[in-house]
Amino acid sequence: MDKVLKRTNMCGELRAADCGKRVVLNGWIQKRRNLGALIFCDLRDKTGIVQIVFNDTVPAELFEKADKLRSEYVVGIAGEVRERESKNADLATGEIEIIADELVIYSEAETPPIYIKDDDEVSESLRLKYRYLDLRKNKMQRNLAFRHRVAKIARDFFDTEGFVEIETPMLINSSPEGARDYLVPSRVNPGKFYALPQSPQLFKQMLMVSGTDRYCQIVKCFRDEDLRADRQPEFTQIDLEMSFVDVDDVLDIQERFLQKAFREAMGVEIQLPLPRLTYDEAMDRFGSDKPDTRFGFELKKLNDTVKDCGFVVFTGALEAGGDVRGIKIDGGSEKFSRKDIDKLQDAAKAYGAKGLVWIRVNEGEYASSANKFFSKEEFDEIAAVFDAKVGDLILIVASEKPSVVFDSLGFLRCEIAERLGILDKKQFNLLWVVDFPLYEYDDEEKRFVAKHHPFTSPKEEDIPLLDTDPGKVRAKAYDIVLNGVEIGGGSIRIHDKDLQSKMFETLGISAEEAQLKFGFLLEAFKYGVPPHGGLAYGLDRLVMLMAGEDSIREVIAFPKNQAAVCGLCGAPTPVADAQLEELSIAVALNEQE
Ligand code: AMO
Repeated sequence: MDKVLKRTNMCGELRAADCGKRVVLNGWIQKRRNLGALIFCDLRDKTGIVQIVFNDTVPAELFEKADKLRSEYVVGIAGEVRERESKNADLATGEIEIIADELVIYSEAETPPIYIKDDDEVSESLRLKYRYLDLRKNKMQRNLAFRHRVAKIARDFFDTEGFVEIETPMLINSSPEGARDYLVPSRVNPGKFYALPQSPQLFKQMLMVSGTDRYCQIVKCFRDEDLRADRQPEFTQIDLEMSFVDVDDVLDIQERFLQKAFREAMGVEIQLPLPRLTYDEAMDRFGSDKPDTRFGFELKKLNDTVKDCGFVVFTGALEAGGDVRGIKIDGGSEKFSRKDIDKLQDAAKAYGAKGLVWIRVNEGEYASSANKFFSKEEFDEIAAVFDAKVGDLILIVASEKPSVVFDSLGFLRCEIAERLGILDKKQFNLLWVVDFPLYEYDDEEKRFVAKHHPFTSPKEEDIPLLDTDPGKVRAKAYDIVLNGVEIGGGSIRIHDKDLQSKMFETLGISAEEAQLKFGFLLEAFKYGVPPHGGLAYGLDRLVMLMAGEDSIREVIAFPKNQAAVCGLCGAPTPVADAQLEELSIAVALNEQE
């Protein structure tokens, strides 16, 4: 076996100041060109690419060896750094090249099924199948290193603040709220199952009962839910819990962490305190509890303006207890054709809207899909609500369900900003959404469910409403939002036994069920529990946004694909009958499967 050359430098870090030095590099061949008397090759390691030259001063044997090099061969090269005659602007190392005098081929490589190039547009399924090749790309290596940096800053920051990192179990009991659990059968307890944790929620609360005071953990969580660009079945949280705190204490420490993370990982200065929006204000202005505030297009309520109009789509919605709201796109009239608006309407329909009323503000008149129902004066009144000017486009949604109006307009304002190309990935708008409703009504199950989780504390002043109007109770719950993405959330927990029982009652969780699922926590609370609260960040989402990526899969080494399958190892896979037998499990698939 050839000796391993002792590396002196990394490829991507060499600069003009290194000229004249003899360096030893290890890496992969990006490409090779034989110009007869000269062989050029690009050598790549995780830091970047540098050009290597074999010229006629080297022994014939070495020249022949260099001629054998192909893409992705793994090699060691030694030589002298020299200034290039003409600079290669495509490479960070473009001012220099290495005049090689030593070459070791560690391993040969077959032609790789994907190009190892940052901007190669290969399908994601191929990228995930050959993830080890995909990860050779400098961009992916940068993302992994950046993720490490953010995680390290988190660990260091919370350590300095007195938090202790404690591991919580991965095999726990299944709990009814939230997403679906991933289940793990127990061999020694036939017919019984563990669940993989959706989060360490109950265990971190137990740690507060134990007197830990400040807990943190960078931890894998598992949720069996439909996948999207910002969702994975297994993802990572920076999970935190603190004792003897109220909302402001938690938010203050988190703001300082975020400021430090942006400063140290990317040199971006975040101004504190972060803006705080109540849930109601966020919905009212942005139609979303995770508003993107990098652009305007804020929602305006038209209920009063249109309540007496002759357009039954509007009046009907209002009479049924609904809302009429709209957004104004500055200068949008000429940017959105009739066809574009039809497409936006189709998108709004996916959120339950029956249609989209559009108004173009023209010179001295209006053009609208509802032309025949409104006089010019009525259009003037609507335009005044938006402070609309000539050239603007107004889009309106009416529905008997306020949530449909919020969801569709909330989606449209972001979709339009995206289409207009005005979303700046280098702008980081962080904000808190606070005062979430404690409950939300589940139309299908016809009962209230916890908006966060059943241990979230109501605001003191709203406790009397628990009996009379549960839908109006506000929670001591908060989400941290970055550019329209929920990157974290948490709450102050209930530490009062009676209040907790009341909460279960309203949620329709019987005393027996509560005992079965959360009995250990309720039992623990009998023996002295401090007031406590916390929060968890989605590390993948935070890193995705900081790195300017559109999918969390770009910042996870080995993510699952859209079908929750691992492209590399193929999980989930069938297992041998003997394994199932040992677990006392029989698989009976439904026909369609
Ligand atoms: P929550 O359920 O809001 O809170 O989760 C916290 C954060 O985790 C991220 N997240 C995800 N990221 C990727 N893929 C997923 N499937 C996924 N699901 C959630 C989000 C989210 O804001 N125990 C509570 C926290 C607490 O109350 O302290 C919890 O888990 O960024």
